[in-house]
Amino acid sequence: MEYKLRKAEPRDVSDILRLVKELAKYEEMEDQVTLTEKELLEDGFGDTPFYHCIIAEIQGENSSDDAKVVGFAMYYFTYDPWVGKQLYLEDFYVMEEHRGLGIGSELLRHLSDLAMKTRCNGMMFVVAENNEPSVQFYKRRGAEDLSQEEGWRLFRFDKNSLVKMATPAEE
Ligand code: ACO
Repeated sequence: MEYKLRKAEPRDVSDILRLVKELAKYEEMEDQVTLTEKELLEDGFGDTPFYHCIIAEIQGENSSDDAKVVGFAMYYFTYDPWVGKQLYLEDFYVMEEHRGLGIGSELLRHLSDLAMKTRCNGMMFVVAENNEPSVQFYKRRGAEDLSQEEGWRLFRFDKNSLVKMATPAEE
């Protein structure tokens, strides 16, 4: 089946949210997805995009059929004060029935080309500890497990903690 990769456009937000939810379900954390299409639209396609996406789509059986979005990679740029620019891979997903066809590898190739063009020094990402197939997928491509090798731990301040630390809103 022929597939192609392209940059996401505003019309893709419903497919992006669908795939975000599918990945969260695969990770058994679907109930934590509260994001809406409206937020995805504003945050990704406004004056200052907070994320970017590469979409993988396949053409339908007939040329008149709409193309179907079957996978995506969501990324943005971060900065490491030791080595400089980094590409951060936030979400990476290919629908189950389209896996094993090279789409994931092609998405990573696309992001690696982009990282080279923008002079990034690495690509960072987090993988759930129990997602062994993906851990192996990344390791086969040379990824290092920094939690294991360097002992980093992932932290977050949730919104309640931020509210407590932030300047109180004026009455
Ligand atoms: N399903 C999955 N993998 C298969 C299958 C299959 N049915 N059949 C074969 N494979 C093997 C391939 O041979 C290949 O092996 P290789 O690593 O030796 O090349 C590998 O698995 C898959 O390679 P691709 O076809 O290039 O990648 P794919 O299109 O399957 O996408 C991905 C890879 C995105 C990891 C996909 O498996 C997936 O969506 N998994 C579930 C969600 C997930 O774990 N996402 C990553 C979370 S981590 C993060 O988002 C930062």
